[in-house]
Amino acid sequence: MKVLVTGADGLLGSNLVRRLLETGYAVRVLIYPGSPSHSLDGLEIERVEGDLCDAGESLVNAVQGCDGVFHVAAITDLWADPALTWKVNLEGTRNVLDACVAAGIRRVLFVGSASSFEPGTKEKPGDETGGFPAIYRGMAYMESKFQAMELARAYARDGKLDVVIVAPTFLLGPYDTRPSGGELVRRFLEKGMRATSPGGRNFAYAPDVAEGARLAFEKGRTGDVYLLAGENLSYQDFFGRVGQLTGRPGPKRALSPTAILAVGALASFIGKLTGRRPMFNQIIARISLRKTYYTAAKAVQELGMPQTPVETAIRESVRSLLAYNHLTLPFAEPFRGKVALITGASRGVGFATARALALRGAKVVITARSAQRLAASRAVLEQLGADVESVVGDVSLYADAERMATAARTRFGRIDIVVNNAGVSMRGRFTELSPEVCRDVCATNLLGCINVSKAAIEEIVHAKGQLIFISSIAGLFGLPGASIYCATKKALTGLSESLRLELTPQGVHVGVVHLGFTEHDPEKRILAADGRLTAPDRPAHHTQAHAADLIVTMLARRKRLLIMTFAGKMGACVHRLAPSFLEGLILKAQAGQWGVFKRFS
Ligand SMILES: NC(=O)c1ccc[n+]([C@@H]2O[C@H](COP(=O)([O-])OP(=O)(O)OC[C@H]3O[C@@H](n4cnc5c(N)ncnc54)[C@H](OP(=O)(O)O)[C@@H]3O)[C@@H](O)[C@H]2O)c1
Repeated sequence: MKVLVTGADGLLGSNLVRRLLETGYAVRVLIYPGSPSHSLDGLEIERVEGDLCDAGESLVNAVQGCDGVFHVAAITDLWADPALTWKVNLEGTRNVLDACVAAGIRRVLFVGSASSFEPGTKEKPGDETGGFPAIYRGMAYMESKFQAMELARAYARDGKLDVVIVAPTFLLGPYDTRPSGGELVRRFLEKGMRATSPGGRNFAYAPDVAEGARLAFEKGRTGDVYLLAGENLSYQDFFGRVGQLTGRPGPKRALSPTAILAVGALASFIGKLTGRRPMFNQIIARISLRKTYYTAAKAVQELGMPQTPVETAIRESVRSLLAYNHLTLPFAEPFRGKVALITGASRGVGFATARALALRGAKVVITARSAQRLAASRAVLEQLGADVESVVGDVSLYADAERMATAARTRFGRIDIVVNNAGVSMRGRFTELSPEVCRDVCATNLLGCINVSKAAIEEIVHAKGQLIFISSIAGLFGLPGASIYCATKKALTGLSESLRLELTPQGVHVGVVHLGFTEHDPEKRILAADGRLTAPDRPAHHTQAHAADLIVTMLARRKRLLIMTFAGKMGACVHRLAPSFLEGLILKAQAGQWGVFKRFS
């Protein structure tokens, strides 16, 4: 069967065309003259150019020879010229429907909008029976889409045309070239968000909506509307999930409605003064306060519309932002196209660093000993669109370190950055430590860094690259109960100082990061005195994402030293000026179980 798709290069159209091709349709697309339509590159489709606003011959020619038409095209930008929005969304729809009547098209699928229906609560979400929400009166996009839907219904009611209608909610997903729904994700990732609106909305996965539209075309009742919805989430919950998947801090709280309205009014005022289009204004503020929750129950039950978890939609959206070069995170420029080898990146700070670098356009090579966990972490990075290689290996073995460097070279042809992160912690008094624990901590924390740096050094020198050593506050001064750990971390300072002297003249950057006690994954284990693996016993003071952000900043600025906490900086300073005084303080703090000791260690 041959169908024409209008608006085929948009977020929904691009997914719909693919779904139609997968299910055996021959697809012709109507593209606005001169539109680049990159999202359709490589597809076996017939392209015709045309403007919805040109009533008559050209549109009839475009639909002629097709069995069905999917009318997806619309102006969705709330900021567009209202007259143009009305012209394209309402008159354009009339033109398409008339062309279909003239060409004798068998069936038309019209894509409306969920905003044509009153939303509901999470418990009782809005459905196809709701009226047009009063709050949207006077808003060109919402009203024109409602009127266009009514027009399509009238064609069906009057027996002029067999039309089925779908009404999607807010879309996220792949092939978002503009970006459309992905703009919400992009803004959060690039600008961050401390607080958000108390409102919420329904988030639908674009391929699910595409499939829902195809199913409605095949099985839907003439003149009926099917809401194509996904998950109902408050903005705080939504951005929290985006943050969790991407390693950015989500909003800590929702602002009060008064505050949101005040910000909206202020933004509108500034917009008027500067003549610039504000990203937020009074109207957006009012809309953002709403909880626009909908249900796809009818589409799921009657059509079999799929329901993919919102996490997939978010990942695909990030992937699309990266693929179409829409994501520019802070400090992204120095990493675009660079190759970073990060040891111990199956979890913890290493994984967070790999993700932060990948989101900035770096190709990453991640390593660890546990194959299973490494594969899972690689999959998460790949789902975000990262270019990843993974190598299972033990950094304390030179042969494994060589394999890591070789894998990076083979896959990506170069190594620009090595982050020596793999490490193991220990607890126990020196008198009680088993010799095996002493050896293992040295082997991973010190020899591991030497091995991987050595294996990659030729590429690093060639690329005028960067060698980073992940140390600890415990690498600034000794701490009781952590002798070998402190020894290895402090040794990294000596190693990096020598390497800096040797390699700076060749353009290589060498840096040391003294991390504070950071959030750990549930499976993190440290070595007890007798070699048993035990869970860490201290609370964390920082998130892994925060540590990764600092490491990224340090790399971007090619800084030689980063001490993560204020307590660490103070400790380092006092240690330099009065080491005995600091030692006394540490012993007192330990004996008295002072919080400051826990902060240091
Ligand atoms: N978290 C903190 O509070 C904190 C504070 C100061 C400094 N640091 C330093 O930061 C780094 C990362 O800490 P983290 O909390 O993220 O640790 P983590 O959660 O325990 O992760 C350590 C990573 O290193 C890998 N690894 C351990 N030994 C290895 C070996 N011999 N060869 C290859 N990979 C190995 C682990 O995977 P496998 O076990 O599968 O190999 C894992 O991927 C470490 O160097 C640590 O000393 C951490």
